[in-house]
Amino acid sequence: MDGTRRVSRRGFVGGVTTALGYLTLEPSSRLWAQSVVGNAAPRAQRTADEYDTLAKLANNENPYGPSEAVMKAMQQSFKYANRYGYPEGGIVEAIAKHHDVKEENVMLGSGSGEILDVVCNTYLHNGRKILSSEPSYDVLYQHVTAFKADSIRVPVLPDFRQDIPGLIKAARTFNRDIGFVYLCSPNNPTGRIVTQREIKQLLDGIPEDMPVLIDEAYFHFVEDPDYGTSVPYVLDGRPVIVTRTFSKIAALAGMRLGYAIARPEMIRAMRPNATGTINAIVKYGGVAALKDTETQAKVKRVTLELRKKTAADLQSLGYAVIPSEANFFMVHLRRPVQPVIEEFKKKRVLVGRPFPPLLEHLRVSVGTADEMSRFLTAFKEIVPQARTAAKAS
Ligand SMILES: Cc1ncc(COP(=O)(O)O)c(C=O)c1O
Repeated sequence: MDGTRRVSRRGFVGGVTTALGYLTLEPSSRLWAQSVVGNAAPRAQRTADEYDTLAKLANNENPYGPSEAVMKAMQQSFKYANRYGYPEGGIVEAIAKHHDVKEENVMLGSGSGEILDVVCNTYLHNGRKILSSEPSYDVLYQHVTAFKADSIRVPVLPDFRQDIPGLIKAARTFNRDIGFVYLCSPNNPTGRIVTQREIKQLLDGIPEDMPVLIDEAYFHFVEDPDYGTSVPYVLDGRPVIVTRTFSKIAALAGMRLGYAIARPEMIRAMRPNATGTINAIVKYGGVAALKDTETQAKVKRVTLELRKKTAADLQSLGYAVIPSEANFFMVHLRRPVQPVIEEFKKKRVLVGRPFPPLLEHLRVSVGTADEMSRFLTAFKEIVPQARTAAKAS
C-alpha cells in the first residue's frame, strides 16, 4: 500500500473533534483528514444588562461600534425597513469601485460567514474536500461538516505561519479530491499572515483550475508591507474568491454584511446557494463605511497600540505571544486552555474558544483599554505563575 495515502480511521463521538485519518508525507507537511461532528456550542443566553457588563474578548469584534457617519446613513435608511423593493444605496457599485472590479465580480452575503457557507455548498460536491491549514477559522470546518464533507488540514509551521509548500504538496497529491483551498490571512486564530510572495507561490504551485478561497476578514489591521490583497488574481482570471467583511474594521458584526470578489462565472455558480437576503439598513451602512477611511485608520491605530501593549505586558510576565497582524492574538499559557477560559468567564471576561491542536494557547480579542486592563488583572489572578512573576518584576 502506498504509504503516503494510507488512512488509519479512528472512531469518533458526537460533538467531539477527532482525527479521522492521518496521512503521512514528510514531517514538515503532515496532513490530517478530519471531520468535526456536531456544530458549535449554542450561544449562552444572557440578558442585555448582563451582556453589557462583560469584557467581550471572544469574537474579534470591534468594540467601538459603527462610526457616526455609518450610524447616520443607517438611521436615514430605516424608512425602508418595511420594504422589499427598496433602493439599495449603491452598495454593490461602491464595493466594485473600492476594489477596481466590475459589479459582476461582487456577491453580497449576510456576513462573510454566509459566503464561506456558499463556497462549501458550491464546491464540495461528490466527496470533494477542503484543503486548509490547522488551525484556521474553525467555523468553516463546521460548515464543511454540515455538508458531510471532509477536510485535509496541513499543520502550521513551528512559528505558526501557514505551510505553503505543505499545502502545495497536498494540493498536488489529492488534486481531484479537493473542492477548494481555504487560506485565511491573517489567519484566525494565530493572527499570522500569508505574504503576497507566498500567495503567488501557492497559486503557481497548485493545479491552475483549483478554486482558492482567500479570507481577508482581518485585512484592515495588517501592518506588514509584505501583505496585500489577492483581488488582482481575480482580474488575472485565476479561480480565486476573496472574501471581506464589514464586521471587523467597520464594527457592523451584528448587522451582517460581507462579500466575495470572484470571476463572474464563479459568482454565477455560487449565487443560487446564497439566500440573497441582506437587510436594507446595513447596505447603507456599508456604503458609508467604505468612505469613512478616517475612522478606520483610528480604529486600526488604537487596536494595534492596545494589542502591542497587552502582548508586551504578557511577555513581561513570562508568557510568549504569537506575533499577530490582526485585532486578536494568542498567548501561550503552558497549561490546558479550557479551564482557564472558564475562570475568565467567572470574572466576567469572555475570551476565545480553544483552537485544536493549540490547546495551551488562549486567543484574546483586542477590546477597549478598559477591557484589556480587566483581562490583564484577571490573567494575573487566574495564572498563578504570572502573579509570582509580576511580584518579582
Ligand atoms: C476569518 C474569519 N472569516 C469570516 C468570519 C465571519 O465574519 P462575518 O460573518 O461576521 O462577516 C470571521 C468571524 O469572526 C472570521 O474570523
